[in-house]
Amino acid sequence: MPYKGIIEKYRKYLPVSDETPIISLHEGNTPLIQAKNISKKLNFNGEVYLKFEGMNPTGSFKDRGMTMAISKAIESGSKAVICASTGNTSASAAAYAAKAKIKCVVLIPEGKISFGKLSQAVIHGAEVLEIDGNFDEALDLAKDLSSRYPITLVNSINPFRIEGQKTAAYEVCESLEESPDYQFMPVGNAGNIAAYWKGYKDYNKAEPEKYTLPKMMGFQAAGSAPIVEGHPIANPETVATAIRIGNPASWKIAEEARDESCGVIDKITDEEILEAYRIVAATEGIFCEPASAASVAGFIKYTRQNYFKDIGPVKVVCVLTGHGLKDPNTAVTNAAKSKKVRVNIEDIVSVIGL
Ligand code: F0G
Repeated sequence: MPYKGIIEKYRKYLPVSDETPIISLHEGNTPLIQAKNISKKLNFNGEVYLKFEGMNPTGSFKDRGMTMAISKAIESGSKAVICASTGNTSASAAAYAAKAKIKCVVLIPEGKISFGKLSQAVIHGAEVLEIDGNFDEALDLAKDLSSRYPITLVNSINPFRIEGQKTAAYEVCESLEESPDYQFMPVGNAGNIAAYWKGYKDYNKAEPEKYTLPKMMGFQAAGSAPIVEGHPIANPETVATAIRIGNPASWKIAEEARDESCGVIDKITDEEILEAYRIVAATEGIFCEPASAASVAGFIKYTRQNYFKDIGPVKVVCVLTGHGLKDPNTAVTNAAKSKKVRVNIEDIVSVIGL
C-alpha cells in the first residue's frame, strides 16, 4: 500500500475511527541515519543514529502531532484552531489548517522566531499575531482564548498531539529492529519527550522481549532550563529559539519519562549547541536547526564525560527535530564566510588553492 502518513500506518495505536476525517500531508516515515563520522570523531564505542525529523512535510516533528490534532478537530466540528509557538508548531498548524480549510490563529513571541518558520505561517494563510511577550505568555493567552471561545487549542497539551508524535518512536524501533539503549533529544515545552516515551512503552508492551525501554536523555538550553533548575525561568534566552521556553506545559510528564526510564534531563550551553550544529552539518551532511542540535550536543557532552565508559557497546538515537533551512541566519552567522571573487579563473584558482 502506498505510504499515506502516520494515521493510516499506525491506525491501531491511535484514537481514530472510520468516522475520523484524515487530514494528512504524508508526514512521518523519516530517515534514521547512522552517524559514523560523529562516532569516529568521539571514539564512541557503539552506534549512533540520527532520526531526521526535519524531513517531515513542514520541516519538523510537529507534523506527526498536527495530523492528529487537526483531524480530531475536524471530527469534532471545529472551524478554527489556535496555538502559541516558537515557530514550528505555528508552521505545522498553518499548513494542516490550510489543507483542512479551517481558520488558524498563531501567537508568536515578537522577533524571536526564525524567518523560515514565520514565512511558513504567513504563506499558509494563518492569522499571525506577534505578541510583545515570550512563548510562555503566548501559551497562557492561547489556553485562555480556547477555553472561552469556539477555537481548538493545538499545542501539545492537546492530547492528540502526543498521540501522533509517539509514532516517531515506533519508526525508530522498526528501523533498528529493536529499541535503542539511549535516546537523546531537545526539551522545550516537553511534549515530545513525553510522546517518545509513550511510543516506546507501547512497543514494549506489545513485544517486551524485542522492544526494551531506552533511557530518555532530554536537553534544555542553559538559559532556558527550568526543569534542570527546578523552577520556571521568567526570561528564558538561547540561540535555539525553538526551545526558548521558561515554563514547559508538560513539565511533570517529562520528569516522569526521565524517572521511569532512568534517564536524565540536563542542560547544554549555546556554545555546545552551536558546536553540535556545525558538526552534524559538516561531518554527516545533515542540516538541522539549532534546537535540534541540542540532542547531539547532549550526546557529545556525555561521551566526553565518559558516561558510556563502563557500559559496553550501546545503540544511541539522537532526534533532529527540525530542518536547518528553517533558520538560515543562524547558519550564515556561525559558519565560514563566503568569499567574493572576480570573473577570472586565475583568481578563483588562487583562492581555492588548487
Ligand atoms: N525542537 C524543535 C525544532 C522545536 O520546534 C521544539 C518545540 C522542540 C525541539 C521541543 O519540543 O516542546 O515538545 O519539548 N517547538 C515548539 C513550537 C514549542 O512552538 O514550535 P517540545
